[in-house]
Amino acid sequence: MKRVLTGIQSSGRPHLGNILGAILPAIELSQKIESFLFIADLHALTTLKNKDLVKKNSIETAAAWLAFGLDTSKNVLYKQSDVPQVTELMWYLNCITPYPMLANAHSFKDKSNNLSDVNAGLFTYPVLMAADIILYNADTVPVGKDQLQHLEITRDIANKFNNHFGDTFVIPEASVKKNTLIVPGTDGRKMSKSYSNTINILGSENTIKKQIMGIITDSKGLEEPKDPSNCNIFKIYKLLASDFDTEKLRLKYLSGGFGYGHAKKELFELIVKKFEKPRKRFDELMNSHERITSELKKGSEIANETANSVLKKVRQNLGLVRA
Ligand code: ADP
Ligand code: TRP
Repeated sequence: MKRVLTGIQSSGRPHLGNILGAILPAIELSQKIESFLFIADLHALTTLKNKDLVKKNSIETAAAWLAFGLDTSKNVLYKQSDVPQVTELMWYLNCITPYPMLANAHSFKDKSNNLSDVNAGLFTYPVLMAADIILYNADTVPVGKDQLQHLEITRDIANKFNNHFGDTFVIPEASVKKNTLIVPGTDGRKMSKSYSNTINILGSENTIKKQIMGIITDSKGLEEPKDPSNCNIFKIYKLLASDFDTEKLRLKYLSGGFGYGHAKKELFELIVKKFEKPRKRFDELMNSHERITSELKKGSEIANETANSVLKKVRQNLGLVRA
C-alpha cells in the first residue's frame, strides 16, 4: 500500500498560509491514503534556541493538525524527536552524502554569504530530511516547490545506499500540487512567519483584527471605485469565501462608496465565522494538553515500530550487527 508522509517544521504557530497551503491539503489526502504526518521539531532546532518556544511550537503545531480534523485512527501524527532513530539513520546517510551536494542545497546556499551564522545542523538539514522520509518507507511526499531540491537529494542518497549496500529503501516521489496555492500576506508578499505578514487564524480575535487592519492597500478614498484584483484584502477574501460572496464583494469594490475599512471588516467576519469550529477546538486542545500528548504518544509508538524494522535492515546491510 502507498504511504504518504510529510512534515511541518515547528517554527511557530501555524498561520493562514500554512493551514490553506499545507495542513488542509494534507488532511484531505489523508482521508484517501494512510499518511504519516510529523512535527519537524529537530529541524526547528537549527534556528530555535529557546526551550519554552520549542515546546510551545510543537504543541501548537500538533493542536492545529487535530483542530482541523486529522483522523488519527487512520493516520499517524508524531513528533520527529519522539523517534530518535531518525538521527541514527541520518549519521549513516551522512557517511555516503557527498559534500558538494549539500553545499549546493538552497537551504544552505541562501545563507552561505554569512558562514559564521551557519551551524552544522543547517548544513546537513537535507540529510535529516532524507532520513525522515526513507525511515518510514514513504512513497509519496507532498511538499511545496521550495522543497523539491530536498526530495531530489533524498532520492539520490537512497539510491546510492541501495546500490552500494543492497536494496533497503523505498525511493520516494515528491508530489507538488499543480496550482500550488500561495496565500498572500498582509503586505502582499507570500504570507510567511519570516516576513511578519501573517494572519494568525488560531490567535485571539483581537490579534486577527489587528492583523487584518494592517493589510496594506492603496490610498483610494471611500467614494472612489476600487480594483479588486489589485487588493490584498480581496485576494485573501477570495481564497476563503464562496463564489457568490466573492462576486458580491467584487461589485461593492467596483461601485464605489465602499472603503477598505469596510472590506477589512467583511474579511474579519468571514474568518471568524469560517474558522469558528477549528478555532474553538484549538483553544480546547491548548487548554488541556493531555489529548495532544496522548495523540503524539500513540503516533510515536506506531512510527517507532516502522522505524525499528527499517533500521534493523539498515544495520544488517551496513555490517553493524547488534546483539
Ligand atoms: P513560513 O514561511 O511561515 O515559515 P514554512 O516554510 O514553515 O512557513 O511552511 C510550512 C508549510 O506551509 C509548507 O508546506 C509551505 O509550503 C506552506 N506554506 C507556507 N506559507 C505559505 C503560503 N503563504 N501559502 C501557501 N502555503 C504556504
Ligand atoms: N523541510 C520541510 C519544510 O521546511 C519540513 C520537513 C522536514 C519535511 N522533514 C520533512 C517535509 C520530510 C517533508 C518530508 O517545510
